[in-house]
This record gives sequence, structure tokens and C-alpha cells, in this order.
Amino acid sequence: MTTNKKYNEIWELAKPYLEKGKMKNFVLHTKGVVKAMELLLQKESGDKDILIPAAILHDVGWAKVPAALQKSNNKKEKIQALKLHIEYAPKIVRKILSKTKYNKKQIKTIIEIIVAHKFKTPIRPDKRLLIDADNLSDVFKEQFYSDAESYNVTPEQNYNFRKNDNTFYTKTAKIIFEKELEKRKQEFKI
Ligand SMILES: [Fe+2]
Ligand SMILES: [Fe+2]
Repeated sequence: MTTNKKYNEIWELAKPYLEKGKMKNFVLHTKGVVKAMELLLQKESGDKDILIPAAILHDVGWAKVPAALQKSNNKKEKIQALKLHIEYAPKIVRKILSKTKYNKKQIKTIIEIIVAHKFKTPIRPDKRLLIDADNLSDVFKEQFYSDAESYNVTPEQNYNFRKNDNTFYTKTAKIIFEKELEKRKQEFKI
């Protein structure tokens, strides 16, 4: 799925967990996050061997979040679901990566990055890159329309939502975001 075969093993191990997520299409979302990470790493510095696995695995925690919480429209329950997907992540990530060649130190770093992707404003560039990639994925074409369906909103509503939620750490992410969002606008305008 990624352009780099090297990470296919991790992808195959992560996929069953991603398929269990109910809030939206996490397989598609994750493909977008990996693509975004690859784009960011063309301009921003970071360790691909750490950051691509972090992108692939960042949302595996959703597999264990009760479906009712994931689908809830209640604000408190939504936050609870988000907290749980972070809380459940380390155990699953460790289980997956222990089946690969990744060593303890690398696994620790990947988990640190993953648990910082929500409710945190990290300083570390690697943690920041995952947050940027995660947000960037939502404005890619397939992901954008899939999300609109999952959240039961029109493309225009999704556009307005994304437009107002555009804080990025890196300049690279900001540039790609603006470009993609403009493309989405042109699409639904027609
Ligand atoms: Fe997440
Ligand atoms: Fe995500």
C-alpha cells in the first residue's frame, strides 16, 4: 500500500485493527496519513523508519473503542472515544512491532509519537510531523469525501469544517493543505 515495500509487513499487521474502527474508514484514513507523511518527509527532516510505522499504527487503538462511543453525537462521549483510542494504542503497537525487526528503543520512540497525536502540543519535531500528517490526510480527495459520508455532512460542510481547523506545525503541511483544500472547493462548486 505504501510506496515503500519495506513497511508492508507492518501495514498487513495493522490492517485488521484499522478495519475494526467504526467512526470512519480508518484504512483509507491511514493510507492518507502515510501518503501525507511521505510528502512531508520530502521537505522536512525526520526518520522515515520511525515515522512511517508511526503513521501506519497511530489509529490502531480505535479497534478497541466501543462502537457506540465511536458513533456517538454526544460531545463528552466523543472526547472519551478519542482518549481511549490513545490509551489502547501502546499495547497493540508493541504487539505488532514485536513481530518485526524493530528493537525496543525504536518501538518506544514510535509509541511516544503515537500517544502524542491527540490532546497534546508537542515540541519534538517527530511528534509534530505525525499531527500534521494526520490532519493533512483529511483534505486528500478520497479521504475528504469518505469522511463527509461517515459524518453525514455535505462536501461543503466538510470543507468549511476543515478550513477552520487548519493549524499546522510545518510550513510544508500548510502549503499542501491550502492546495488540496482549494481543489476540493473547485470540485463541489461544479
Ligand atoms: Fe487518532
Ligand atoms: Fe488519525
